[in-house]
Amino acid sequence: MSTDTILTVQGIDVFYGASKILFGVDLEIGRGRTLALLGRNGAGKSTTLKAIAGIAKPRKGSVRLGATELAGARPDVIARAGIGYVPEDRQVFPMHSVEDNLLIGAKRGPDGQDAWTLEKVYEAFPILAQMKERRAGLMSGGEQQMLTIARTLMGNPEVLLLDEPSEGLAPIIVQSIAALIRTLRAMGVTIVLAEQNMHFCLGISEDAAVIDKGHIVYRDTIKGLRANEAVTKRYLAL
Ligand SMILES: Nc1ncnc2c1ncn2[C@@H]1O[C@H](COP(=O)(O)OP(=O)(O)O)[C@@H](O)[C@H]1O
Ligand SMILES: [Mg+2]
Repeated sequence: MSTDTILTVQGIDVFYGASKILFGVDLEIGRGRTLALLGRNGAGKSTTLKAIAGIAKPRKGSVRLGATELAGARPDVIARAGIGYVPEDRQVFPMHSVEDNLLIGAKRGPDGQDAWTLEKVYEAFPILAQMKERRAGLMSGGEQQMLTIARTLMGNPEVLLLDEPSEGLAPIIVQSIAALIRTLRAMGVTIVLAEQNMHFCLGISEDAAVIDKGHIVYRDTIKGLRANEAVTKRYLAL
């Protein structure tokens, strides 16, 4: 693990009503690295990302971005602190143009970072540049997924949380989302990628954590995970 840890999740418990969903979840993400958070449907991947983003409140534990404690803070405060969260249900403003959707997300990063501008986003997402006048509601699912990722980057986050970006998309679109995530990684973006599909994460992420029934059960590189058949068979739907 990199010594330059940017995001540290320590011992978080999350409840929905009386049901305990996360049990002491720990994660560490190195700056500029991509961590795949893998697990079956219902394992707790989305809840973990929601807990980091402040949508689900941890009852116990710590979420630190650099030295800043975020556990229990409001989602808008967490977003301004530098966490960019792309939920699984791609939310675009359907009646607004692609460009307006991007501009809605524009803000400086926590230390005044402004690396992600419209120009930079159009460079990384050429398909959005071609569609900038289009109403977002008229885009395909894959295009809307790209738009939500791009809009989140417009907020110049330090860490990008992506919840199953490939879900429900046609294989060819999944490939272009994978290529996009690789591009972002090459640009130095720190990413936490929640996924059911380990194969999607190969060649995208370096690090892997496996969650099962709200517990982190395994931590390795993605290559180490792939080679560990006992773990992949037991915890992942392959
Ligand atoms: N809003 C909610 N209220 C109650 N239980 C929930 C809610 N959202 C998710 N759960 C439950 O929490 C567990 C983890 O869900 P989730 O984090 O969405 O898993 P994953 O993203 O890995 O599929 C599941 O058992 C799910 O049924
Ligand atoms: Mg989920």
